[in-house]
Amino acid sequence: MNPVQKLFSCFFDPNTLKFPKDFLWGTATAAFQIEGHPDEYSQKLSDWAKWIDEPGKVLPPTGNGDAVKHLEHLDEDIALIQKLGAGAYRFSFNWATIHRGEDDFNEEALLYYKKLIDSLRAKEDSSQRPIKLFATLTHFVLPSWLAEQGGWENPNTACEFNNYTNILLDYFGDDIEDWITINEPNIFLGFGYESGIWPPGKTKDWNGYLKAYQGLLTGHELAYKSIKAFDPKYRVGFSQNMYFFQSLQEAEFEATNQNKYSGNGSDNAQGFVSSDTDIKDADGKRLTRRADLDKVPAVIRNQLHNWSFIESCLEMGCLDFLGVNYYTRFIYKFSTLARDPANSGLLSDLWGGLEKAPKNYKDIFTGKSPKYNSLGWEVFPEGLYRVLTSHKFKQLIGDLPVYITENGYSHIEKDSELDLEDDYRVDFIKNHLKALHKAMKEGLNLKGYFYWSLIDNFEWALGMDPRFGLIHVDQKTYKRTPKKSYYYYSELAKSNSIKLV
Ligand code: BGC
Repeated sequence: MNPVQKLFSCFFDPNTLKFPKDFLWGTATAAFQIEGHPDEYSQKLSDWAKWIDEPGKVLPPTGNGDAVKHLEHLDEDIALIQKLGAGAYRFSFNWATIHRGEDDFNEEALLYYKKLIDSLRAKEDSSQRPIKLFATLTHFVLPSWLAEQGGWENPNTACEFNNYTNILLDYFGDDIEDWITINEPNIFLGFGYESGIWPPGKTKDWNGYLKAYQGLLTGHELAYKSIKAFDPKYRVGFSQNMYFFQSLQEAEFEATNQNKYSGNGSDNAQGFVSSDTDIKDADGKRLTRRADLDKVPAVIRNQLHNWSFIESCLEMGCLDFLGVNYYTRFIYKFSTLARDPANSGLLSDLWGGLEKAPKNYKDIFTGKSPKYNSLGWEVFPEGLYRVLTSHKFKQLIGDLPVYITENGYSHIEKDSELDLEDDYRVDFIKNHLKALHKAMKEGLNLKGYFYWSLIDNFEWALGMDPRFGLIHVDQKTYKRTPKKSYYYYSELAKSNSIKLV
């Protein structure tokens, strides 16, 4: 501490990072991952309700469509959200249980959301602090009747999505001002049309991929316009999954040079493919040399995964804020061996190989060597900082409000006692918030952070084992128990700051 800081030490605490007064602290969930809507599974209302039953598609335990029985435990879960003391909550409507056919909207399913919304938004006579709601219109799941007609590949799906949006506005338009149209179009497309591990289960179907991309984009545009027509002051965005992509060359250079990241936001993999089809690095230099080849897969992945959908929404003028879901970094190297002869073509040729992080680097936010969560995802807070301060991000997003709409740590329980003492998750949260604070000091217009997830839940093709929650759920009794991270996060939200020691 310098003498001036010492003098003002009662105001200036170097061990505390304060967040802006209006910063939102929240948690996030998604309908199918928690609800356990009885009709959905028994009547196979959604593509995922069917997918669960297809042999080998979802790792056991699958939860049989019950997820964590949130509907049955609604009052208890609402009380836990309130007790947490975070000012915001991101949830998703379940398109499939609400919209059961053309012009067929299920009143009972809608009423459940009414209860949720009414209980969380403080009533005038209640002592409860209001909770700001961020509603996601669709989080991966499609109504079966639409999936059977081609899902997002069929242009009619975007129109039906818009009809559904208008029904939600009729019911809840007065209660919700912040809307997320679509969760992670890039993950939906990647798993649904590239690897095929999610519905509709198509592998390297680039034709389907592009049609569905167009459908999702139109769906977003129509919903955006409907919400703005309902109230122009409402804010509408979408949530983008963003990885920190890096070439092996760069990752190794940094690792062997004690993590000498220059901090100028010019990471080579933050480059882009320009409209004249040249591949350029972040400084606009053409990548032509043999040595540059190593950068190409990371640059292309980066463009397709991180930037494309954002660029399309911005071009249409349909984005009031960006939701960023960040989990990890991916390191790519160029490898002709990764070429798939059955599917050769520019995209599959350039994908290249995927590598794990080099062992010898030190993360600048933790000062530690790489750590991985139970799914093998590297914990890399620095990547979040680097994506959000990259040249490309600044160029595209500028001053547009940004929310971290997901960021979380998964653990597979071996011993439930240990799982409740989840120091690894506490560290994860602290180090990602440190990274965000630094990015904000450098100009990022970050308005809030939603931890993924409020509660342990159904992790799609990986089943019920991976646990991301602040609240533990016993899979036999469905008993809820807050973990150490729940209390830690509660303190952060209430104090609007993080303590570094
Ligand atoms: C999804 C969540 C998922 C999380 C962890 C995100 O891609 O939006 O639904 O649970 O990642 O895998």
